[in-house]
Amino acid sequence: MQAHFMMKSLMQLKEKDVDTYEHSVRVGKLAEYVASRFGFDKRMTDHLVIGCYLHDIGKIGIPQNVLIKSTSLESDEWETMKRHPSLGKEMLQAYAAIDQEIIEIIAYHHERWNGTGYPYGLSGEQIPLLARWCSIIDSLDCMLSDRPYRKRLSLKEAKDELLLQSDRQFDKHLVHKLLSLPDVALKNEQTIHR
Ligand SMILES: [Fe+2]
Repeated sequence: MQAHFMMKSLMQLKEKDVDTYEHSVRVGKLAEYVASRFGFDKRMTDHLVIGCYLHDIGKIGIPQNVLIKSTSLESDEWETMKRHPSLGKEMLQAYAAIDQEIIEIIAYHHERWNGTGYPYGLSGEQIPLLARWCSIIDSLDCMLSDRPYRKRLSLKEAKDELLLQSDRQFDKHLVHKLLSLPDVALKNEQTIHR
């Protein structure tokens, strides 16, 4: 049931913005690998994986001109973009069969360990564990992807940045766990069917 909802939502996202769709698929795939390598139980695995595939689903509700803008966002556009975690939370809450732990990933994936994230400004272990995982996997994929206004980082540069932001943006313990995985897994080069 949740898987069906996930596929339907991802197809809507693909229609809205194919780059965000492909990013979401890569984040979901790396989450599957993380869950299997670190021995998550079935429930935690399902929640992390579905939550990671759907983490940006609120972007369906962001105007297209902001979502696919090819230059850096103006401050008002950035404020609009920052609404996507709460929009996603509302979308999922409207669907009763979605577990709370999944909704938390969508709502909190832009919170930061030191409390400077958005939209709620939570810090440390106030941020649910699976949302802390999603934040790191999401950021790694963003750094390894080209953006209209910057080229992708090398894997080495991205790993260094994750380490640098440990205890500021990310849960240091989880960063170290992620970086213990082989480079080929972290590169996460997926063939995604459009
Ligand atoms: Fe996001």
